[in-house]
Amino acid sequence: MNEKQRLESQQVQSPEKNKEKDYSKYFQTVYMPPSLKDARRRGREEIKYHDDFDIDERFKGMGNGRKFYIRTYGCQMNEHDTEVMAGIFMNLGYQPTETVEDADVVLMNTCAIRENAENKVFGELGHLKHLKMEKPDLLLGVCGCMAQQESVVNRILQKHPFVDMIFGTHNIHRLPEILNEAYMSKEMVVEVWSKEGDVIENLPKVRTGNIKAWVNIMYGCDKFCTYCIVPYTRGKERSRRPEDIIQEVRQLAAHGYKEITLLGQNVNAYGKDFEDIDYRFGDLMDDLRKVDIPRVRFTTSHPRDFDDHLIEVLANKGNLVEHIHLPVQSGSSAMLKIMGRKYTREHYLELVRKIKQAIPDVSLSTDIIVGFPNETDEQFEETMSLYREVGFETAYTFIYSAREGTPAAKMKDNVSMEVKKERLQRLNALVNDYSRKAMEAHKGQIVEVLVEGESKNNPEILSGYTRKNKLVNFKGPKSAIGNLVQVKITDAKTWTLNGEMIDVKESVEVI
Ligand code: 5AD
Ligand code: SF4
Repeated sequence: MNEKQRLESQQVQSPEKNKEKDYSKYFQTVYMPPSLKDARRRGREEIKYHDDFDIDERFKGMGNGRKFYIRTYGCQMNEHDTEVMAGIFMNLGYQPTETVEDADVVLMNTCAIRENAENKVFGELGHLKHLKMEKPDLLLGVCGCMAQQESVVNRILQKHPFVDMIFGTHNIHRLPEILNEAYMSKEMVVEVWSKEGDVIENLPKVRTGNIKAWVNIMYGCDKFCTYCIVPYTRGKERSRRPEDIIQEVRQLAAHGYKEITLLGQNVNAYGKDFEDIDYRFGDLMDDLRKVDIPRVRFTTSHPRDFDDHLIEVLANKGNLVEHIHLPVQSGSSAMLKIMGRKYTREHYLELVRKIKQAIPDVSLSTDIIVGFPNETDEQFEETMSLYREVGFETAYTFIYSAREGTPAAKMKDNVSMEVKKERLQRLNALVNDYSRKAMEAHKGQIVEVLVEGESKNNPEILSGYTRKNKLVNFKGPKSAIGNLVQVKITDAKTWTLNGEMIDVKESVEVI
């Protein structure tokens, strides 16, 4: 159902609905199942900007004396959505809790990118069923990307009827209404808009840390890589206005945050949808370079939209760190074509050459899928050779997972799981090798570390990340937490560095 249909369906609702005892009738009005077909549409709906989010008077105090717990799966975008939902809960009067047992509302903010992400959620629902039986007043909700899929909603309706709420990625701002309906209705509340999406400003947020923060710059994806479910679950590419982003970053800086990560499924497409201004990701980065915050990162970028202006801006460094995550997915042009990536191996290598020329000390990382349908040994070897040629410092590697509704899910596949696993192992060995080499190159160097806290295993040891996102452990005073310090690297492991602190940097000079 899209926005228009939703509004029409609301118009036929009785304004007396709250007084009605006939819940089944009421249930009809809130039941909005997703449709992958609707989600696939692009360009027919106008993007609406809403900057008037407010919690209705009716719902204020709804959470008094109640606690919420949100379990988050998947990417940073989901982590950040959880921060927004936590903000809404707190505004409703709920308090956070650390355990599901203690909670009055449990939400599972889910991920649909691969099948194993979904399996984890269904496994967890099995556990939560027992809790719900012990505590019938508990409200249980499933939200996030899985909720955008028809098959998932149907499976929950049939096999997990104890779930109270299902709502999608476009419905987060409606959490107060959805909770209210769930309290009043005996039926499962399902509200998943399969729409291109809007941009909603002024949503409350409870950030999980006070040193690093995520900032959405755009939502959705229009790339439709043939294996990927994201364009269906997150809607069309739509950018936040630059002034809203810059203001949010300025506020974070004023509150003492030291690092921000700009979020989008494809940040390089930022601004493509603006009709009134010519302002792209390079322009945004250039403006953020002037904001007094020590570090600005971004994730994740698509090679196709990575333009020369952006490279030029990133080369000016300052608070723009010299680490770029640039998912390649495969080193074979034939595979890339079937994946719908819209670039070739040669294009990618040329882009890397340009980036390295402009930023000689750049650290590159990537995402790779092995075992895409019909991938040959030779094609896989091309991925291995591209990895060496680029010299990535690290990578997230995945075995291809068929996602219902995507074009790749319909492709016949002649590669056995055994072969896929063997390829993944070989690739991971290469990734480890290159990571260790990159870490070893740090030995004897002095690096800037943003100290995040005590090391998990030893409270005497502090830990934090370098500009290139390498984890460093070192001895230091607790007063260093939240600051940028200089650390001399003494030892390197595959994934971490050890060092000795040199001095505390009060501020970083921002050009
Ligand atoms: N199977 C395996 N990996 C996938 N990714 C996206 N979709 C799939 C899929 N169907 C990987 C890509 C992407 C990362 C976030 O997840 O590598 O960059
Ligand atoms: Fe998925 Fe491709 Fe969009 Fe990334 S760019 S979210 S892989 S469709």
